[in-house]
Amino acid sequence: MTVAYFNGEFLPLADIRISPLDRGFLFADGVYEVIPAYAGRLFRAQAHLERLEGSLAGIRLENPLGRAEWGALLDGIVARNGGGDQAVYLQVTRGAAAREHAIPDGISATVFAMTRLMDANPSTPAVIAVTRPDIRWARCDIKSVALLANVLVREEARDCSASEAIMIRDGMVTEGTATNVFVVDGEVVRTPPKSRHILGGITRELLIELARAAQMDCREEPVTQAELSAAQEVWVSSSTKEVAPVVQLDGRPVGDGAPGPLWQRMHDLFGDFKQRLVRGDVD
Ligand code: PDD
Repeated sequence: MTVAYFNGEFLPLADIRISPLDRGFLFADGVYEVIPAYAGRLFRAQAHLERLEGSLAGIRLENPLGRAEWGALLDGIVARNGGGDQAVYLQVTRGAAAREHAIPDGISATVFAMTRLMDANPSTPAVIAVTRPDIRWARCDIKSVALLANVLVREEARDCSASEAIMIRDGMVTEGTATNVFVVDGEVVRTPPKSRHILGGITRELLIELARAAQMDCREEPVTQAELSAAQEVWVSSSTKEVAPVVQLDGRPVGDGAPGPLWQRMHDLFGDFKQRLVRGDVD
């Protein structure tokens, strides 16, 4: 039985009922996070909570819980679902009120969390991707639940038998529909800088940190669509995909069509980090 969290209580997921007047349902008026746990240990929980605070501030929604309460919620839901490798999904919406665009006074936020089991060692991480225009809004730095554009662009990837779409805005790479993007040119690894056009991925941040600590030349720099197409390696990163090699882009092989050597190195560094996390040496 999956145990979820809803407005202060841990309950079976199947028992939770949400009002049709919830503004999350009517207006996608809410934000979310996805936080992995390995062997029951949360991955970069403080960074995720900090980003959540930024998303809430970005939509003018007061944080309904303090850091310690969020921490207890996260630990509680992971433990109640048996520890192990899980991805915690949490969502905060503005709550239920008569449908009116203006933000109503005095309503309570809806806080919901659930987890799902995660395969921490996917056997075939290779990704087939296509490029597509970025049709999203201008505040992609907010982790909003309004994901219809991402869903539709992902569906276009599926139409081409691809599993991810890398989005392009004004000739520049932004990100994948649920991932950040890295490209390799010679020995140089580049990823588009943080801006309102991308989500500041927690995995992206860690990869930059790990790469620099290992003396790799990793730069936060704009990447053009032409540079993406010419890259020897392309990677995508997220909490659930970790760092995955893109082996085919727009129907053509990336490099020689197999995961590249720098990806392998990054993947190993990420694996070491997970081991240190599980030992309790880092978070
Ligand atoms: N998505 N960009 C977008 C648009 C995303 O939705 C995500 C993550 C990322 C990577 O962020 P992080 O490394 O913090 O997971 C980048 C989550 C996993 C999701 O929507 O399920």
